[in-house]
Amino acid sequence: MKRLAGKTAIITGSARGMGAAEARLFVAEGASVLVCDVLDDEGTELAGELGAQARFQHLDVTDEQQWAEGVDVVQSAFGTPDVLVNNAGILTFAPMLTMPVADFDRVIQVNLVGPFLGLKTVGAVMAETGSGSIVNISSTGGLVGMSMISAYTASKWGLRGLTKSAAIELGHQGVRVNSIHPGGVDTPMTNPGGDAMDQAQYAGQPIQRIGRPEEIAAMALFLASDESSYCTGAEFIVDGGQTAGMDLSPMLATMGG
Ligand SMILES: NC(=O)c1ccc[n+]([C@@H]2O[C@H](COP(=O)([O-])OP(=O)(O)OC[C@H]3O[C@@H](n4cnc5c(N)ncnc54)[C@H](O)[C@@H]3O)[C@@H](O)[C@H]2O)c1
Repeated sequence: MKRLAGKTAIITGSARGMGAAEARLFVAEGASVLVCDVLDDEGTELAGELGAQARFQHLDVTDEQQWAEGVDVVQSAFGTPDVLVNNAGILTFAPMLTMPVADFDRVIQVNLVGPFLGLKTVGAVMAETGSGSIVNISSTGGLVGMSMISAYTASKWGLRGLTKSAAIELGHQGVRVNSIHPGGVDTPMTNPGGDAMDQAQYAGQPIQRIGRPEEIAAMALFLASDESSYCTGAEFIVDGGQTAGMDLSPMLATMGG
């Protein structure tokens, strides 16, 4: 039996990167998927590749009207949504002291207000049905601070908090809400040219390499499926051990240990 047999999923920002990996895996596991993005060409191509179980929908996550249209489309094409993956996100590097407010606000709009609108729109349909799983893609930037990406970390910490509040509000109506916290993952966000990546910056991690989109999709599949039926309001870290803590062995070496 496929792990998402008979389920319908909406995945935002799924024209490429992690979202596309999730769409491919979900379809392979029996789900019907509404591939949503602002990248119309890439999204249409992916949905075409996935066949009858997928359909592309232009959906800018900051636009409440487009969320409502997405819900209408998924209901007429595949049925009531069982799964929402709030995956769409943007990353902007800037020193905090000189970052224009408009740039800060744009990141918050896409990464935090977008998932809020998804929770509101799709969560309402799920609550009415009495079941559903919402997966919010946060980041290790939602667990620790990081320089040069203050708007991003603020948005991802916000999404972590929103996840817990939503889990409490919607739990009694059968809707589970969890967050995933990926570390560095090789996608167009981190590697726009798709080049072979220098893994040196991951040398300090327990798993000394960048993550693959499929490794995050595997966690999203678990949370989307009924295998995670007792999980809600929780954080699922997929980061190669990036946030596990400090390796003290170099310090010990300088102490002659
Ligand atoms: N790549 C990483 O290292 C990493 C690490 C931790 C978390 N994340 C998070 O994972 C998620 C997926 O990122 P990715 O690495 O696949 O990046 P990506 O840039 O490859 O994909 C993000 C997708 O979101 C879409 N998008 C952007 N703005 C949108 C909007 N307003 N409405 C709808 N879609 C929009 C983009 O068009 C793109 O297809 C993001 O939320 C990101 O913050 C990424």
